[in-house]
Amino acid sequence: MFKGKSLTLTCLLVMLMPSVADAATPIIEGERFHGVPGQHAMVVTSHTLASRVGHDILRDGGNAVDAAVAIGFALAVVQPRSGNIGGGGFMVISDEASGDVTSIDYRETAPAGAFETMFQDDEGNVVEAASRYSANASGVPGTVSGMAMALERYGSMSLDRVMAPAIRLARDGFTIPARFADGLNDSREQLEKNDGTQRLFYKADGSDWRAGEVFQQGELAATLERIAQNGPREFYEGETADHLIDTIKAHGGIMTHEDLKNYRAIERAPVHGTYRGYDVYAMAPPSSGGVHIVQILNMLENDDLTGTGFGSAASMHLMSEAMRRAYADRSKYLGDPDFFEVPVKALTSKDYARELRAQISLEKATPSEAIGPGNLTPYESNETTHYSVADDSGLAVSNTYTLNFSYGSGIAVDGAGFLLNNEMDDFSAKPGVPNAFGLIGGEANAVEPGKRMLSSMTPTIVKRDGKNFLITGSPGGSRIITTTLEVISNVIDHGMNVQSAVSAPRFHDQWLPDELRIEDGFSPDTVRLLEGMGHNVVQKSAMGASQSILINEEGFQGGADPRRETSSALGL
Ligand code: GLY
Repeated sequence: MFKGKSLTLTCLLVMLMPSVADAATPIIEGERFHGVPGQHAMVVTSHTLASRVGHDILRDGGNAVDAAVAIGFALAVVQPRSGNIGGGGFMVISDEASGDVTSIDYRETAPAGAFETMFQDDEGNVVEAASRYSANASGVPGTVSGMAMALERYGSMSLDRVMAPAIRLARDGFTIPARFADGLNDSREQLEKNDGTQRLFYKADGSDWRAGEVFQQGELAATLERIAQNGPREFYEGETADHLIDTIKAHGGIMTHEDLKNYRAIERAPVHGTYRGYDVYAMAPPSSGGVHIVQILNMLENDDLTGTGFGSAASMHLMSEAMRRAYADRSKYLGDPDFFEVPVKALTSKDYARELRAQISLEKATPSEAIGPGNLTPYESNETTHYSVADDSGLAVSNTYTLNFSYGSGIAVDGAGFLLNNEMDDFSAKPGVPNAFGLIGGEANAVEPGKRMLSSMTPTIVKRDGKNFLITGSPGGSRIITTTLEVISNVIDHGMNVQSAVSAPRFHDQWLPDELRIEDGFSPDTVRLLEGMGHNVVQKSAMGASQSILINEEGFQGGADPRRETSSALGL
C-alpha cells in the first residue's frame, strides 16, 4: 500500500538532543499526570529495555516500523510471559503521507488436523486443560511471519539489523525486574510440569528468582540468530521448525511440519469508523476489537459525555450499556472472515448503533439476560502486550501480540528456547460454553482446520484532519476493547492528555457475566448510583496496560501505563 521510508532525522539533531525525555514537561497545563515529550518520535512499551531498543533503532535512522519489529523481538526475550515468537497478534500501520492505513494479521491458525469437538470429551463436555495446557492448545504461531511482513513492506532496515538487540539481550542476559521474577516464581506449579520449560526458565538449584538477578537465554539467542540470518522461513521450515514439531510430538500434539510451512500472515484493511469528527482505524476480524470499538463509539456519539463527565454514574451507565450490547453481538457474529461472513458493515453502521442506543434507558440498567442467556465465570488474565511507536515521517504503528495466558500453554520448545501459545482456547470449544475470559461464541468461532481464532486485540490509530493523533491499544483479554475505548473517550470527550487518559481508572461490561467491573478509584457515590440503576458493580484488579501516544501541535506525547511497573515511554 505504501513504501517503507527512513525516519527524517539528521544524526546531528539527534546527538544534540537528550535521548531520553524523562523530564515531566506539562503539555496540557493543569493536569495531574504528564506524558513523556518527544519532538521527533516516540516509543511506548510495557518494558524499559524494549522501549530502549525501539528508541535506539529510531535514533539510528530506522522508521517506526523498523522500531516496532525490533521491539516485537526484544519483548520476546525480556518479557517471555507475553512477548513472543511462539504466538501471534496484529499490527496497524498508518502512513500520514499517503493517507493509507493498513494492518498485518499474524494471528495463529488451527492446525490442519483440528476439528470442532477436539476440546470435548466423549460426553460432549469441554475439557479446559486440553485447550489451555496441552500441545493441542497451540495454534500455528504467526509472530515471525507477521514481523517479517511488516518489515519487508514498510520498514527500511534489514531483519538482522532489527533483530540484533534482541539477540544480544538473549545471549548476554539482562537484569530482571520484580514483575519478571514474581511472574515465574508464581507460575512454578504449572510451568514446571514440562521438563523443557523447567530447564529453560528456572534455576538448577530450584531457588526462586529475585529482582536484580541476570537472566540469559542461550537457546533463544541461537534461534533468533538463525531467523536473522536465514529469514522468517527458518522458523517455519528450518531447524526451528524441527525443534517445534519435535516438542509438539513429544507432548502428543497434532501440529505438523506442513502446518508450519503453510502459515502466512495476511495484510488486511482495518475497520474504519468516525467519532465526533475523528477517524478511527482498528483491527478487523479475526479480531473483534475494531468492529466493537467502532460499534460502541457509534452508540455514544450522540450523547454529551463531556457534559456528564469522566467517572460520573451517568457516563459509566451509558458506556456500560453500550459495551454489553456490543459483546452480545460479538458472541454471535464474529469469527475468522475467511471462514465465516462477518457482517462488519452492519455492525459498524451508524443506523444500527442508533437502533441499539434507542434500547438504552438513561435511568435503568438492562439485565444481561434480557439481551442474551448465560451464567459465566471469567478467568483473570492480562497477559497480552501492546506497544505504540510513531515517527516524524508520519508513520505510526500500533501493535498487540500475545501467547494468550501468561506463558501461553507453558510448553517451551526444546532446543529453541521459546514458549508456545495456548490460543486455541480463544475458539469456541462448544457453542455457549465460555472461554477463559468468560466470552462465549458459536458457529462463527468454532474450531476448523486452518482457521484463525477470534481475538479481542484492538490495536488502534485515531486520526484528526488526516494526521496521526492517538496510537493506542492494550492487553487484558476481553477487557482490551473497553480499555482502548476508554482511552479514546478520555482524550476526545474529556480532554485528557495521554498520560491521564491511560492512568485514569477503568470499568468494563462484557454482557456476560452480568456485572459492571470497576477498578479502584471511582467514587463510592458513583458506585451507589450505579447500583441504584440496577448494575451489579464488582470491584476487581487492574484492567489492561495501554501504552499510548498522542501527537499534536506540541509534538509527541507518550503515555506509559502505570499498571505495569516496567512500562516506559521514550521520546526523541
Ligand atoms: N488471547 C486473547 C485475545 O486474542 O483476545
